[in-house]
Amino acid sequence: MVWDPSSWRQKSAKQQPIYPDVQKLHAVTDRLRTLPPLVTFREVDHLHSQLAEVSRGRAFLLQGGDCAESFGEFGQDPLLNLFRLLLQMSVTLVHGVGCPVIKVGRIAGQFAKPRSTDLETIGDVVLPSYRGDMVNGHGFTQEERAPDPVRLLDSYFQSAATLNFIKALAIEGYASLRNVSSWNSAFIASSPARERFAHIVKRIEENIQFMEACGMDPESNPQLSQTSFYASHEALLLDYEEGLVRQNPEDGRYYALSGHMVWIGDRTRDLDGAHVEFARGIANPIGLKVGSGLDQETLIRLIDVLDPHNTPGRLVLISRMGHDKIEKLLPPLIEATRDRHVIWSCDPMHGNTWTTDDGVKTRSFHDILAEVKRFFAIHRDLGTHAGGVHLELTGQDVTECMGGVQEITAGDLHHRYETRCDPRLNASQSLELAFTVTDEM
Ligand code: PEP
Ligand code: CO
Repeated sequence: MVWDPSSWRQKSAKQQPIYPDVQKLHAVTDRLRTLPPLVTFREVDHLHSQLAEVSRGRAFLLQGGDCAESFGEFGQDPLLNLFRLLLQMSVTLVHGVGCPVIKVGRIAGQFAKPRSTDLETIGDVVLPSYRGDMVNGHGFTQEERAPDPVRLLDSYFQSAATLNFIKALAIEGYASLRNVSSWNSAFIASSPARERFAHIVKRIEENIQFMEACGMDPESNPQLSQTSFYASHEALLLDYEEGLVRQNPEDGRYYALSGHMVWIGDRTRDLDGAHVEFARGIANPIGLKVGSGLDQETLIRLIDVLDPHNTPGRLVLISRMGHDKIEKLLPPLIEATRDRHVIWSCDPMHGNTWTTDDGVKTRSFHDILAEVKRFFAIHRDLGTHAGGVHLELTGQDVTECMGGVQEITAGDLHHRYETRCDPRLNASQSLELAFTVTDEM
């Protein structure tokens, strides 16, 4: 079948909203086609080449952010806190692992969620499930839950504002290693991971002072004064993705310019489905969630479709097995991909979700760490490269996952439980996890 940006329409597309007003949807997608792309061809190619280094075992991928971005929780503080946290984690990893760390946010497009059920029932009221702010509203009313295509445009503009702010932080000096001590936010300062981080800060400051004493100016060296930061999201809503595909005039290739990297979720990775069809034709790096239901043969067939030329940096396999299943299920899949230039990354979140007796969706930090540790141990045993981690986290001081050095209990969860979808690691838990990764590597 010949690929074009709309060829997915000939396949069955799971998890798509049913819009009551199709004219309105067409008006929105027409508009998306005329708007400037959110990212550029060059930036996407740049990430691709950095991921190629990850696939060669010479760099590490740190991917993380909200489960679902929202229109309500949007502003300077959440963005700044997330950006700073990813910087802290990346400095921790660079220091501990001694290789470049590629930072990719779950950000600027991560507004739509796949759901296990189409409907939600409360008492005797049945309404469509909440599918993320890109589709409908969170409130449990008929009005809020009706899918509205204008939300695609709202997501686009919020993504544009997000990228504008984050890019400024990345290049204007905030991310300069000279400022490393100022990233030590009040919150991290009260966490026990602080001492280990303070040690890293001290080492970096000594190195910078040494360079200055030798007559080098860190500010004139972009490697030290700036950083690269990329945006990724699940390519779930194909009307939105198609509207932001652009053809590169230089080589004729098509790019999904809704973000630098997009991934296919565990629920929509059908070989013959619309999401795989869409992803196979775009030039971006692609992620593929690999859950416990995926067998060797199907994985290889998916790789054949998504990365037919075995291109380094093209495909990131994001394993999300669960801490109790990874040991058994992951090694055969890694074995099957030995001759492929794929990156293996660990999502220790989505296989470890459970609900408390009070009905709160949570994850145990203990299980999350256990899955990460097993992921690294498996790669060590097989002699393959553990290429990265994929995390749901926030720089805000939330109480959504249990455990960690703050010892968050089931009874604490309600204090600051703010996620719109899945429970996220808070800043302290995330930094602790980064130290675990450096210990494992
Ligand atoms: C996600 O990453 O938010 C997600 C829904 O993951 P998965 O497709 O692995 O369930
Ligand atoms: Co999630």
